[in-house]
Amino acid sequence: MLSEDQNRRLTEVGAGTPMGELLRRYWMPIAAVAELDDKPTKPVRLMGEDLVLYKDRSGNYGLVDRHCPHRRADLSYGWVEECGLRCHYHGWLWEHTGRCLQQPFEETAHPAARFKDRVRIKAYAVEAKAGLLWAYLGPPPAPLVPTWEPFTWKNGFVQIVFSEIPCNWFQCQENSIDPVHFEWLHSNWSRALNGAGADRSPAHLKVGFEEFEYGFTYRRVLEGQSEQDELWTVGRCCLWPNCLFTGGHFEWRVPIDDANMLSVGWFFDRVPNDMEPYRQDRIPYWYSPIKDALTDRWITSHVMNQDFVAWVGQGTVADRTQEHLGESDRGVIMMRKRILEDAESVMRGGEPKGVMRDPEKNRCVRLPIIGRDFFVNGSSRVESETSRQRTPGLLLRQEFSFLTGQPEEVRAAYRRAMGLPETGVDARSPAS
Ligand code: FES
Ligand SMILES: [Fe+2]
Repeated sequence: MLSEDQNRRLTEVGAGTPMGELLRRYWMPIAAVAELDDKPTKPVRLMGEDLVLYKDRSGNYGLVDRHCPHRRADLSYGWVEECGLRCHYHGWLWEHTGRCLQQPFEETAHPAARFKDRVRIKAYAVEAKAGLLWAYLGPPPAPLVPTWEPFTWKNGFVQIVFSEIPCNWFQCQENSIDPVHFEWLHSNWSRALNGAGADRSPAHLKVGFEEFEYGFTYRRVLEGQSEQDELWTVGRCCLWPNCLFTGGHFEWRVPIDDANMLSVGWFFDRVPNDMEPYRQDRIPYWYSPIKDALTDRWITSHVMNQDFVAWVGQGTVADRTQEHLGESDRGVIMMRKRILEDAESVMRGGEPKGVMRDPEKNRCVRLPIIGRDFFVNGSSRVESETSRQRTPGLLLRQEFSFLTGQPEEVRAAYRRAMGLPETGVDARSPAS
């Protein structure tokens, strides 16, 4: 059980708070590259700061204050030009570096005054990688955006899915080191929701947690498996500071503010060998709804939606002074302790865990990956269609089982990439 003070320190993300400062040492995914190609401005709220993300006509990405420093108009209604973002109110033009490039009437009235050199807009760094746009809100020098190993993989269909979740980010990240929930929240609850009989999915017999350079791994032995299986020998990753990595996909829990979180999913599906070479020109993105409009209840049909139901159910900010933690929560306890230590070290001027600064290392950052060979080299169609190991997640998925609401054009592009017929049966096998 935590004290109120500890709970606050784990959850507050504003500038100047220990966790807010810790999080500002890492790049955060905030949009898809294709999203800005579709529409060049996007209002963004990140760690309690209201901002606008844009791509100007020269291809520069900017992330600047939502409010124009002149008289505070909302710059997400501005328009992009050859260089910079133009405010729609009086036409001041802002560069991605924060410089003011033009102040039309001021320059007419007092051409020699150069008032524009004396005003700046708050501006943050943005970088594109793996189809995502990443923002860095911390002090210079900015570290590198990590090139996680799956970002270098070929012959895969990648899609990016966003959902806005009305609760604090940290309870979502605690789920990244909680193997036992998969058995109940996903397997057994899905059975119950589908009216299945009394039989249960394989139970967890043993769980293990270990810290590594970029986070923690969690490992498990399920009924019918042993310590020789990759779920135990390799495990899955709770990636520092706000991500779950399961081998085939990442889920970032990006803090919007203390009460809201942007879930950013990046999903890689390897094409079968007979579809190689496969190259994706544009990584699609979509927004997944979380509430059923008819019933006004949370959607429960898909894996991550089930996670969302658990997280919002814990309250806007989970009250950790009221918990009763057991053996299954050993990983959660380890992570809380480590991240609070990290946050304190940041406040003393230290560098937190896993910040990437070595370009050589960052060419490809290896992670623990169950079934690496399957993702890298692929397999024949026959093998891809049957789970090759006793591990969920390693097969040719017929349908996208993680989140509800996949647009038809994304589904169709996926099926074309995989060489699947236009329609198909639902074969769910999520990775936990
Ligand atoms: S408020 Fe933006 S130019 Fe006046
Ligand atoms: Fe889950």
